[in-house]
Amino acid sequence: MLAEAGATVAVNDLDAVPAEEAAAQLGGDCFAVPGNVTSEAAAHPIVAGVVDRGHDLDFLVNNAGVAAPLVPLADLSSEDWQHVIDVNLKGAFLMSQAAAAVMRGGCIVNVASVAGLVGFPASHAYGVSKAAVVMLTKTLATELARRRVRVNAVAPGLIEAPMLDVMIRNSEDSDALAARIPMGRLGSAEEVGRVVAFLCSDSASYITGAVLPVDGGWQAFGAAGPASRPGGPSC
Ligand SMILES: NC(=O)c1ccc[n+]([C@@H]2O[C@H](COP(=O)([O-])OP(=O)(O)OC[C@H]3O[C@@H](n4cnc5c(N)ncnc54)[C@H](O)[C@@H]3O)[C@@H](O)[C@H]2O)c1
Repeated sequence: MLAEAGATVAVNDLDAVPAEEAAAQLGGDCFAVPGNVTSEAAAHPIVAGVVDRGHDLDFLVNNAGVAAPLVPLADLSSEDWQHVIDVNLKGAFLMSQAAAAVMRGGCIVNVASVAGLVGFPASHAYGVSKAAVVMLTKTLATELARRRVRVNAVAPGLIEAPMLDVMIRNSEDSDALAARIPMGRLGSAEEVGRVVAFLCSDSASYITGAVLPVDGGWQAFGAAGPASRPGGPSC
């Protein structure tokens, strides 16, 4: 969506090959800046990979994320917990720190989750990391506003993307999840991308510190029973 809007996108991923493939798919001058966002030693070189090519860094999208296995509290290892916190939270912190040092305006968009807004059983690592990303968004927004850097977050609901495979094993799982969504369907990556592009655009010039759910009404729903059954939900 950012490339379609005319941005030269520097694609980060852990490994070079998927980052290069994604950049090639985007076409134009888009290029890869692979590296592990959890590593302080990598965050600055990732940013330098943009600046050294002569580009200004106008936007940072902290999208890298991992989910932990959905297991009861007693079964979650501290290593699995720490890995999720490292990628989802420390990665967003380190990349924001490295990017903010060279940004002269523009904006940062963090990809949070509805799991950071409401409690999910067995989401001890993922939900906690995303709730912290929400607060990281607000602290960064208040600190960087005077430097004309806006900072916002999207909080996607259930989006048809690889991470959802943790929760969906078959079409029955998919139907059960869709029934919890007032709009009655999962979202698409494009629907999240469009909101990220909006937050990066001049149309959002007075929006900073916001956390925008992109969830088909998921976190707004609090009634009993399915959210999207024919005849409407019970109250
Ligand atoms: N799919 C959903 O339903 C959903 C819902 C809410 C939020 N999200 C969030 O959206 C974002 C994208 O998720 P997705 O569903 O597209 O999953 P995905 O697994 O396709 O994308 C995550 C990407 O992050 C990369 N990554 C992981 N660790 C990294 C590291 N240390 N350094 C650099 N890159 C790393 C992975 O290689 C992968 O390409 C994540 O932050 C996720 O938490 C997804």
